Amino acid sequence: MAKRLWDKGATLNEQVHAFTVGNDPELDQELIRWDILASAAHAKMLAKINILSKSELDSLLTALAEALTLSDANSFEIPYELEDCHSALEHFLVERTGDAGRKIHTGRSRNDQVLVAQRLFIRDAILTQCSRIGECIETLHSRVKDIGHLPMPGYTHMQPAMPSSVGMWLHAFIEHFLILLADGKRLLDTVNTNPLGAASGFGVPLPLDRNFTSELLAFSAPQRNPIDIQNSRGRYELRTLRWFSDIASATEKISWDLIAYNSKEYAFFNLPEELTTGSSIMPQKRNPDVVELLRARASRVRAAEFELVMVTSKLPSNYHRDLQYSKEPLLRSNAQISEIIPMLSLVLSSISPNEDTLQSAMSDDLYATYEAYRLVGEGMPFREAYIKTAEKTATGEIRKADLEKEFESIDASWRAELKLAESDFTSLKKDLKSWAKRLHAIEEPLLRA
Ligand code: ARG
Repeated sequence: MAKRLWDKGATLNEQVHAFTVGNDPELDQELIRWDILASAAHAKMLAKINILSKSELDSLLTALAEALTLSDANSFEIPYELEDCHSALEHFLVERTGDAGRKIHTGRSRNDQVLVAQRLFIRDAILTQCSRIGECIETLHSRVKDIGHLPMPGYTHMQPAMPSSVGMWLHAFIEHFLILLADGKRLLDTVNTNPLGAASGFGVPLPLDRNFTSELLAFSAPQRNPIDIQNSRGRYELRTLRWFSDIASATEKISWDLIAYNSKEYAFFNLPEELTTGSSIMPQKRNPDVVELLRARASRVRAAEFELVMVTSKLPSNYHRDLQYSKEPLLRSNAQISEIIPMLSLVLSSISPNEDTLQSAMSDDLYATYEAYRLVGEGMPFREAYIKTAEKTATGEIRKADLEKEFESIDASWRAELKLAESDFTSLKKDLKSWAKRLHAIEEPLLRA
């Protein structure tokens, strides 16, 4: 039977083993590819400082390439008795390369090994979620083009407030997602330093070339101070989860609006039948379960942020096994966000407006504020115009037909803002594309001898 890395012959207590390993073998399936790439960088560096010979490095790279192929096909095995992906990988390398495999752990610890794997995972996750957000923005854009001209009442306190439009409402979410994209880009800069080389959290007395591994893995620089590096386990994960929570907040708001506007009471939009579910008892029902679950999944993403705060706060400096639990909330939320954004895009691309209902919801009283401003335009002080308009509203003298044209300047102004949003989007897309290019470019050369 394969042995744990640190096994010195003491008898194994199954209950303790099960408790400490938990679901790491399963979770680590998502980290293994990053551990493999970081191991390739580490091996190249060890060869550069003459700890590995050229032929040892070559055999390690061949085995690592094999491991990557297996992991990308979801068939790299992480045996339960080996605890985690790091031990499984070392075991795999020793089996294939003998002494070269027994040398790979020189100058590192599982503590920095897992840090670098999680960091690479995070970098990739941010970039992938950014591209999903980009697709959602494109969906919103095409809906604005398509149905943005339709009028829609604006509500505050869920009470009819002022005239608005479907376009203004959709554009609001474009702006929200653009902020999230810009945040994602900044987050990439923040997380992109190299923890590899901190070892257990105090460095090692070897001339490790951390600039070299940083370059190989496209990190901007080595992260500084081994203690801080170890203390940062969970810290960048938390920033990522906060960003995920912000994505979740946007989703919640849109979902809530859609649920309300799809209800019989508003009836502004219809969801296609395939995006609704029926009731087992009430034959007439078509329920917006998909959108409700979007809202609830968003809450679960926030809960994961809270879980991570609880697990990683109030710890002293350095590594503690508690930090193992920084992994699950990160992986779980990333999986949630991966499903949430595309589902949101699908919903947004499928809603169909009820033009008649939207038109008839534009009641006269929505235009009261416009009337007040019309009076202001005639020179009346605003407070007086406000009182006068309130009286007119009570006697039913405000008429939409007289005031409708006033929306034109507001319409023109959000449309001009939408143009600015389009240009921000173009430049963010360009930046993210160059990030993606830079990150994807590392893989092939890393495994090349
Ligand atoms: N699975 C462990 C984790 O995620 C790997 C690091 C183990 N390190 C240790 N000192 N026990 O934290």
